[in-house]
Amino acid sequence: MLPPLTPEEQSHHLRLAARLREALVAAGGWLSFERFMELALYAPGLGYYSAGSVKLGAGGDFVTAPEVSDLFSRCIARQCAAVLMHTGGEILELGAGTGRMAAAVLTELAAQRVLPARYAILEVSADLAQRQRERLAHLPQALRERVVWLERLPEQPLHGVMLANEVADALPCRRFRCDADGIRELGVVLDALSAERTTASAPIRFREGAVAADASLAGACDEILAGLPEPLPAGYTSELCLRIAPWIGALGACLARGLLLLCDYGLPRRHYYHPQRATGTLRCHYKHLAHDDPYVNLGVQDITAWVDFSRVAEAALAAGLEVSGFATQAAFLLGLGVEVLVTEAGADIERIRLAGEARRLLMPEEMGEAFKMMALARGLDIPLAGFALQDLRHLL
Ligand SMILES: C[S@@+](CC[C@H](N)C(=O)[O-])C[C@H]1O[C@@H](n2cnc3c(N)ncnc32)[C@H](O)[C@@H]1O
Repeated sequence: MLPPLTPEEQSHHLRLAARLREALVAAGGWLSFERFMELALYAPGLGYYSAGSVKLGAGGDFVTAPEVSDLFSRCIARQCAAVLMHTGGEILELGAGTGRMAAAVLTELAAQRVLPARYAILEVSADLAQRQRERLAHLPQALRERVVWLERLPEQPLHGVMLANEVADALPCRRFRCDADGIRELGVVLDALSAERTTASAPIRFREGAVAADASLAGACDEILAGLPEPLPAGYTSELCLRIAPWIGALGACLARGLLLLCDYGLPRRHYYHPQRATGTLRCHYKHLAHDDPYVNLGVQDITAWVDFSRVAEAALAAGLEVSGFATQAAFLLGLGVEVLVTEAGADIERIRLAGEARRLLMPEEMGEAFKMMALARGLDIPLAGFALQDLRHLL
């Protein structure tokens, strides 16, 4: 069903497959899915995000809310403005994609006359950072000169807002299966023919390989199972991201006062690990087709897993942050007046275009329900309009 790779994509796939095989052999013949995903997405010069494919937008593999419409970013900017008026300081965006959200947020904040002292971007992909530079070079100078790129989190305590749209789902995750005799970790092995491969040109193929879960995974799975209303059936397969806690911990340690706003597709734990979601949430995206085979199209397709927002909330509390809001994307955008932004548009044709984009952001069968917004705050005692219409925190 997937379209064939172009010759350039095929050669990229083969080079990453060789790199993965090398890592797998060095590790003794089995790689955790987390390490596989890390290399497939971020191996220097070869991973999906590290290398040069288009990735986001109509000519790429998937679209995100900021790519669907600037209405999304304008609402984010309105929420940022309310915070910046109290905290002053800056905005730090994690994983800024094409830079479209940064451009739209700065433009809206300029219109509201609440510009941050600077708009910092922390981006792990050199390729995307270059695309961001090219896009943001077109901003008016007064906005452009506020944008800086960071190599790591700032050492100075941050006052203001941190933004991360669809970053948590791109953190490498572990995979597990509940078997009758306990938890097994699903990792990656070479398929039999590839393991016996004798010539350099023979194809390298990977497949799933299960081993007994190590202590960190078994402990995390036990915690999940203990909190669920019913046991998971034998054969139940899912994902778990152990990198969420250190990531939120590091962001929390950096945030002196203000808001960390996360947006991602995800669920509270009891819905995430629902018995009916028996094959997990792992998805791959290639040329706008979603599928669940991470072992094809290496380096030219995205690999993601949904976010367990209960895990995010636990990590935030451990980092001394307050979980000050949790809502669907639709409720967040409506709370910030997205419909007013549509009706305010001058010309009919513009209003019709924006109404179509708003539908895509808001409708439950599109992005409105699956995507959630979470507000994590420190030292911020102000109402957050994005979370005024809905409070899903009791589900966490
Ligand atoms: C799915 S894209 C989302 C891009 C953009 N935020 C958007 O919504 O269009 C994931 C982004 O996160 C970046 N990324 C992944 N892990 C990261 C990390 N630990 N810190 C910062 N950025 C990261 C990727 O390079 C990429 O820019």
